[in-house]
Amino acid sequence: MKQVTAVAPANIAFIKYWGQKDKEKILPYHGSISMNLSNCLTTTTARFNKQVTTDEIVLTHYDGKIEILNPEESIKNKKLYEQINRIRNIAQRTESISIQTHNSFPSKCGIASSASGGAALTLALCKIFELNKYLTNLKKLSALTRLCGSASAMRSLCDGFGEIVVEGDKCYAQNIKLSDLTLVNIVVIVDPEAKASSSSDGHLLAETSPFFAARLGQVEQQLEYCKEALNHQDFTTLGTIIEQDCISMHSVMMTSTPPLYYWNHKSFIIMEAVKQWRSEGIESYFTIDAGANVHVLCEPKHLAELTEKLYATACVQDLIINQPCQGAHII
Ligand code: PMV
Repeated sequence: MKQVTAVAPANIAFIKYWGQKDKEKILPYHGSISMNLSNCLTTTTARFNKQVTTDEIVLTHYDGKIEILNPEESIKNKKLYEQINRIRNIAQRTESISIQTHNSFPSKCGIASSASGGAALTLALCKIFELNKYLTNLKKLSALTRLCGSASAMRSLCDGFGEIVVEGDKCYAQNIKLSDLTLVNIVVIVDPEAKASSSSDGHLLAETSPFFAARLGQVEQQLEYCKEALNHQDFTTLGTIIEQDCISMHSVMMTSTPPLYYWNHKSFIIMEAVKQWRSEGIESYFTIDAGANVHVLCEPKHLAELTEKLYATACVQDLIINQPCQGAHII
């Protein structure tokens, strides 16, 4: 096999993780739950490269801009190159690898490109190096995926809705089985520029927030409530918990030393608008990851109306409409 292509969706966390109890092992303090985003995809091709002795990762951004990822430039880049090395070592192989990867959506701005990128990269590498015991075992594959530097990448392996489970120093992903919850996620692009601090840098500051302990004290309960609401297809409870968790995580971010402000005044305009539209009967909820762009959740019956209202809001540059979808797979 000379070339392999994997596709992975980004995911939006309903109950988020922020902070790592082991920074080397990329081990979150607690579990998390997310939904995959059908129209925010990373497509990654891995090839053996006999011409050179070093690996190379070339990223094509959604706007066509091409970037050769420099391992010295950021922790995230370094971890991606380490992942190539790790998987090659597990396979006891020696070939250099060339990676071509493409994001269908803006990177580094709160839409989880590191999750889709990390999942697609890990899956493509396991396939090209023929690591079948990883390819057929989600627990094993997800534990390996995490080491790409992004724990949330584990959830991009799941179908539809995924969960990260943390048991002591073990951490893996599993699918959340649902009958048929029809949810829509609208990514509201208010600022497609890359954020100033990556989530990798941000995780390192979580413990400096006095609110972090309070978040840890509450999160297990929130995970349970979230799963219950998903199982009962109770959108009102689900949306309420999702908003609470988003505000809780951003409170930790904003009160860390130094403080991190991922959301901005444009994010707030959308958060306020969602609240207003909800009071008028268009049931929708917001959540925001480590970036200014806002994720709005609704049921399909309100999609057309919400889309119209969002496009009519001055700060909105674009919308990406997503449904839960298949997790990372080989094409
Ligand atoms: O998995 P990382 O290191 O890219 O961090 C993800 C952090 C958040 O997106 C803010 C939360 C989450 O659980 O996805």
